[in-house]
Amino acid sequence: MRIILYMGKGGVGKTTVSAATAVRSAALGKRTLVVSTDLAHSLADCLQKNLASEPQEISTNLWAQEVNALDEMRRGWGKIQESMTKTLRKQGIDAAAADELALIPGMDEIVSLINIYRNARDGDFDTVIIDAAPTGETVRLLSMPDTFQWYAQRLMKMQSGPLNLARPLIKAFFPATEILDAVNALSERVKTLREVLSDPEVSSYRPVVNPERMVIKEALRAETYLALFNYPIDGVICNRVIPAADYQDAFMQDMYRTQEKQRQRIHQTFAPLPIWEAPYRSREILGIDQLNGLANTIFGEQDPTQIFYRGAIQEIVRSGDSYILRLPLPHVEMNKVLMSKKGDEMVIEIGNFKRDITLPAMLASQEATVAKFVNGSLEIHFNASAEADKSA
Ligand SMILES: Nc1ncnc2c1ncn2[C@@H]1O[C@H](COP(=O)(O)OP(=O)(O)O)[C@@H](O)[C@H]1O
Ligand SMILES: [Mg+2]
Repeated sequence: MRIILYMGKGGVGKTTVSAATAVRSAALGKRTLVVSTDLAHSLADCLQKNLASEPQEISTNLWAQEVNALDEMRRGWGKIQESMTKTLRKQGIDAAAADELALIPGMDEIVSLINIYRNARDGDFDTVIIDAAPTGETVRLLSMPDTFQWYAQRLMKMQSGPLNLARPLIKAFFPATEILDAVNALSERVKTLREVLSDPEVSSYRPVVNPERMVIKEALRAETYLALFNYPIDGVICNRVIPAADYQDAFMQDMYRTQEKQRQRIHQTFAPLPIWEAPYRSREILGIDQLNGLANTIFGEQDPTQIFYRGAIQEIVRSGDSYILRLPLPHVEMNKVLMSKKGDEMVIEIGNFKRDITLPAMLASQEATVAKFVNGSLEIHFNASAEADKSA
């Protein structure tokens, strides 16, 4: 199975490019599902078909779906949440507050991601295209598996750990073992999901941009977060490119020149990723025929579901007696990176997002001494002992 997720600022053309990719994939004979996760759905308008929250077959080999994360959660997690709310209310917590407390943050996103994956697997799809929400929301969605695992692990530890002190508190909040069982089961599924989403043989992430300064800025931020979470990017789509022509009109001339500068910047900044361009059309691109035409313009004869680029992910290199963990994080604003280490757990924070890395055994026992940026990568140096470091 291939999962391809298009992301970017609102209005850049994510839905259009997702639909075009899906139409082409289906035409190549692959069972294809295109899923919109943006609450402001426009996939149905783009395809000119009625869609529902379950996959609908809209033409040969092509299924489409508009998911609603909140509905998904109520269906998948609703019962557990209900019993959590009830328990909390028995403790004398008022109804509204109990409702709030029972909502594990990001649960709607987790459940919706798991359901997309389950639908894809059960429906035996070759290609799954995700037409994602604007960048911020999508980064949040993609960071949820890590956040959830962080939460679940702490919950488990508190429940089973030797800290008897915490037990009455835990008992008050989570007396039902069914809740812990549910969190445990969900945690297993989230683990699988996380592996699938960061497996470069399965999943590819593609920023969609326009030749505009603000749009590029947002895509660069997206690239950093994707790298932080180890989600593989295999290309960039540059949409709405004003075609080169001898424009007589001053306004068009100026617009073309301004775009041209930004277009070149895109090629420089995102290299060595492949960059596809789609021209600015005078009209909206609607319906399967027009989308097929757009796919031709963008990808030519190529299969858009192939893996176009295999980039570096985190690596560990040896340097003398110590090791270096190298994490490619392009375009990061350095002053916003925080890290902490406890045993085999390393937490790296950039802005509002946290990545929880489980360190391999050889690094777990060592001390993280220095972190610095070298050529777009965060390098964390490890040392066998702090004493050795001092005497050196
Ligand atoms: N290359 C293009 N030329 C002309 N119109 C386009 C192009 N790409 C997208 N559009 C139109 O722009 C609008 C926004 O595109 P859409 O794909 O919905 O963006 P997003 O999903 O990123 O918000 C739609 O009306 C779409 O038909
Ligand atoms: Mg859209």
